[in-house]
Amino acid sequence: MIKKAVIPAAGYGTRNLPITKVIPKEMFPINGKPAIHYIVEEAAASGIEELLIIVSRSKNSIIDYFDDSPELEAILESKNKQHLLQNAQIPKVHIQFVRQPRANGLGDAISLAKRFVGNDSFAVLLPDDIILGKEKAGILELIDLYKQYKGNVIALKEVNEDELKNYGVINGEEMEESLYLLKDIIEKPESSPPSNLAVIGRYILSPSIFKYLEQVIPGAGGEYQLTDAIKLMLQQDNCFGKVINGQRYDIGKMDEYLQLINRFGSV
Ligand code: UTP
Repeated sequence: MIKKAVIPAAGYGTRNLPITKVIPKEMFPINGKPAIHYIVEEAAASGIEELLIIVSRSKNSIIDYFDDSPELEAILESKNKQHLLQNAQIPKVHIQFVRQPRANGLGDAISLAKRFVGNDSFAVLLPDDIILGKEKAGILELIDLYKQYKGNVIALKEVNEDELKNYGVINGEEMEESLYLLKDIIEKPESSPPSNLAVIGRYILSPSIFKYLEQVIPGAGGEYQLTDAIKLMLQQDNCFGKVINGQRYDIGKMDEYLQLINRFGSV
């Protein structure tokens, strides 16, 4: 069973400057709640019991958000206004935090979770990717496949050819509709992408990933890429890719963020 999940939220958010100088992308509001709240809800609804959120010096608002607020609760109670916090209840999962000193890449961020993870397979949810699953939560779709196939599982999305250079792209053998066994994976291919199947922000990984993360050298953008560790892992372990059944919104892209807000009805 997958009981632990890692949420890396220590990136600089450069595509969303200047607002990300003071408001982390992961705290962008969607219907009154920050994006990362939806990610914690998705994890909790999928059976995750322990979360590690990776933050950085400028992201203390994320830690504050998930803390108890006894003063506020007391004031609301004295005014009989407890209902105002009701739709913002934090799911009952155990949350801890670790700081990534420098945003050296997603691979570097995940390597900080080694002690937290221990010996069991774990989930990774990127908090700037909001996935509204059609039948089940995005990460639950992967967890269910993990139970069936016992390998690593990553989420995929079909994207237009001109966009593939912005993603990790897989080469895989189709096993059943929308499920692939990975043969290769390339981060941000500059030319000749191996398919139109791009990696999006949900993963189930075996703890062997940490061994491969140690071997990775800076790749695309000079960053330690999780994709490069997965590529090394493919030499030994199976990894499946699943085209997620649902809609994915990258809130780092203003048009997708606006679509998401419209879908919920307010900021
Ligand atoms: P992104 O690349 O989408 O976010 O990383 P970013 O780096 O913050 O944004 P840009 O590219 O500069 O605009 C996906 C997720 O991984 C986290 C980010 O916070 C984001 O939620 N991340 C990325 C880390 O935790 N550490 C890193 O070193 C890089």
